[in-house]
Amino acid sequence: MEYRCALLSDLDDLLHLENKVFSTDMISRRQMKRFIQSEHSMLLIACADDKLSGYALLLFNQATQLARLYSIAVSPDFRGQGVGEQLLSHCEKSAVERGYITLRLEVREDNFSAIKLYEKHGFKPLKTLIHYYDDLADGLRMQKRLGTPGPRTALTMPLYVQTLPFTCGAACLLMSFSALKHPLALTRKNEVQLWREATTIFMAGGHGGCSGQGLALAAHRRGFAVELWSHSQGTPFIHSVRDPVKKSVIELVHEDFEDQLQQTDIKVNTAPPTTEQIELWIEQGAAVLLLISTFRFNGAKEPHWIVLCGMNEQFFYFHDPLVEEPGDAVSAANVPIGKKALNQIVGFGKQKHTACVVIYPNK
Ligand SMILES: CC(C)(COP(=O)(O)OP(=O)(O)OC[C@H]1O[C@@H](n2cnc3c(N)ncnc32)[C@H](O)[C@@H]1OP(=O)(O)O)[C@@H](O)C(=O)NCCC(=O)NCCS
Repeated sequence: MEYRCALLSDLDDLLHLENKVFSTDMISRRQMKRFIQSEHSMLLIACADDKLSGYALLLFNQATQLARLYSIAVSPDFRGQGVGEQLLSHCEKSAVERGYITLRLEVREDNFSAIKLYEKHGFKPLKTLIHYYDDLADGLRMQKRLGTPGPRTALTMPLYVQTLPFTCGAACLLMSFSALKHPLALTRKNEVQLWREATTIFMAGGHGGCSGQGLALAAHRRGFAVELWSHSQGTPFIHSVRDPVKKSVIELVHEDFEDQLQQTDIKVNTAPPTTEQIELWIEQGAAVLLLISTFRFNGAKEPHWIVLCGMNEQFFYFHDPLVEEPGDAVSAANVPIGKKALNQIVGFGKQKHTACVVIYPNK
């Protein structure tokens, strides 16, 4: 059996198979053609002696890390011979190669054989979709977290879990210092100390998080060569606060950080870093702190600091100081993120305020 990407010359055979296998929700010729040609989809086919025996269609969502198995079908003459499984395995591999970590699909709730196939491959049910199909049949949404190969270049960095809701930046500094062999212990006292040095004081209703300026200064103070890449329109996080008095304090703190930065040799770039630039830093063994929006993770539009700890061809890996479920620290360490997808989460707020603090290893 040969497995390859479909060509326009396979279109007739594909439509023939589609019409033979499905009676509702069929893919039209026009759609099939688009799926063959688009760079946001992959139409994989299985052929035996030039005869089409099956296909699988993957869609790649540009805005998330989700790839979607839109359809899979095996010709009745070839069923029960492992073709479906092979198609699925190829799809999972291709999704990982493109930097996707989650594969999602929808299946009719009464499609016993397909559900068995997905369960065998480790898909878990997510949600029932009432009247999802054209004939009003219910659907089942299933999802699988794909295995990624692990970082090729990595910093030896312990995970430090922030102990307060607003100390993510300080926790990232502690992890970076430890990876870069600085003796500062990973303690709550030091976490709070670093936060006090880098905070913008106020944020929305509560305490302020750390700004890139504040974190860069705290790292510089401990003897590191530091770069700050900050692409912002004005004072960071000022828009999260309404109270004019609080606003003026945030501005005051920010101006002070800017003045202090001027007194140092910290290089400040007013641009977001490119993927290639980040790759270079990791190759150099630097710790890279990034301000992200948690929106794509949990729907909350909160600013949050993470620290990169490795990479391979497709993924960056980061430590997330925030552990939402007690005892779930494992899932916060070495979290893979597709290189393109990182661009989607970097930056915060309508102003797309980006901040990146690069801490170089001491020579
Ligand atoms: C679902 C489908 C793609 C499976 O293709 P296939 O090549 O026959 O599947 P495989 O031979 O690779 O079987 C792999 C596993 O799937 C499950 N499976 C496949 N056919 C099954 C059946 N008729 N009954 C129960 N389990 C079945 C089994 O777990 C099987 O593993 P096993 O042989 O170790 O028990 C095929 O039946 C098909 O094209 N169905 C119609 C189209 C369709 O429903 N597509 C899914 C839309 S969401």
